[in-house]
Amino acid sequence: MNDDKDDLNKARTGRPSSPAFKEFLAGGWAEPEDTATTLIAAAPYAAERRARLSALFPGKRLVVPAGELKARANDTDYRFRPLSDFAYLTGLGTDHEPGAVLVMEPTADGHDATLYLIPPAAAGDEGFYADPRSGEFWIGRRPGLAEFAAMTGIATADLAELPKDVKVAKHPKAKVSEALSEMRFIKDEYEIQQLRDAVDATIAGFERVVPELPRAVEHKRGERVIEATFDGHAREEGNAVGYETIAASGPHATTLHWIRNDGQVRTGDLLLLDAGVEVESLYTADVTRTFPIDGTYSPVQRRVYEIVLEAADAAFAVAKPGVRFLDVHEAAMEVIERRLTEWGIVPEHEDPEAKLFRRWMVHSTSHHLGLDVHDCAAAKRELYMDGLLEPGMVFTIEPGLYFKADDLTVPAEMRGIGVRIEDDVLVTADGVENLSAALPRTPDDIEAWMARLAR
Ligand code: GLY
Ligand code: MN
Ligand code: MN
Repeated sequence: MNDDKDDLNKARTGRPSSPAFKEFLAGGWAEPEDTATTLIAAAPYAAERRARLSALFPGKRLVVPAGELKARANDTDYRFRPLSDFAYLTGLGTDHEPGAVLVMEPTADGHDATLYLIPPAAAGDEGFYADPRSGEFWIGRRPGLAEFAAMTGIATADLAELPKDVKVAKHPKAKVSEALSEMRFIKDEYEIQQLRDAVDATIAGFERVVPELPRAVEHKRGERVIEATFDGHAREEGNAVGYETIAASGPHATTLHWIRNDGQVRTGDLLLLDAGVEVESLYTADVTRTFPIDGTYSPVQRRVYEIVLEAADAAFAVAKPGVRFLDVHEAAMEVIERRLTEWGIVPEHEDPEAKLFRRWMVHSTSHHLGLDVHDCAAAKRELYMDGLLEPGMVFTIEPGLYFKADDLTVPAEMRGIGVRIEDDVLVTADGVENLSAALPRTPDDIEAWMARLAR
């Protein structure tokens, strides 16, 4: 690639700069084909969300940016993903649209929304070949202002027209972010379908990993074989992964955020795969399975696995409308504490609130899921952890047990074993639906699933 930022790239700008060349490059292009644009499926839902936000902030101007391109180095940018609040209020997904700003201007009875955008520079426009960030010569055909208006149903304007007195911070104001996080707790029917699609694509990704296990065992960085298989699938079938894949083999499974994924994959060990496909609308799944690399759990691996499964089942059993979010976690923790105490590894302590057993399960059992893997994060605690479950909420149930390889407080045979089982659930009228139920969860079912998929 090459571009016009001559200050940054003096050393490597080899393009002729004569007026004759510039004129020749600017012209002689056929009329672009019409990109027929119709209202996107998310648009009516986004309009409804804007109306609800409007009602929460009468008389206040609301400014929600998509975010800016982020330079990776010099003139090379990271692939763009809009901020989730922007996607939520416009319905736009994929890479729409760097630099855009949604402004909701207060009126007598609500707000008027305008989507301010950087117009793409088409042939004939200044910047067509000279601006590598918006020139279509460089980045390909992009929707223009009229097309975005047709897609979203929102009035559009050139970003250069954004009134001088509208301050655009990097994120919406804290109160607006908090309100949006709290609105995002309850998913509408469009969001639920997107999450179902994300989970289904994720399950298909897990199914692609299993036949690659022999190749992973052969490779010096087998975890990368797993990661690349899943991540390639996510790019093929969705927008991307919803978070960095955790492909943790053997003792790496006890490192909660193991995303380096540069380890070997060894027969006899477990593989903890925590991965999610983010679909084009930017909703993501978040699923974990821990399976035996050679297709069969050892007795001690199975013993650890069964406790985690029992904890997950206990969480599933209490989850229903009206129950406190935190009580789902408490139900899982009750099982973990009881089973580890029976094993005799939890030291006695006069204060039961010391909860020493949490040494082996330090994370929480659940988080909301949606446009962000850890969704609704700006909500108030009393509505999140202490909030009550309502139909339409989507969250994870993901207990685990992690015995680090150097943990001298547990029997040697358990050291280096990490297990997590993570499912994505939708709160229904009287319980929860496990959206990831098509992926086996019990040791017997996982062994059968692996045998079926093995090549
Ligand atoms: N993969 C991140 C999480 O499970 O929360
Ligand atoms: Mn996860
Ligand atoms: Mn999770």
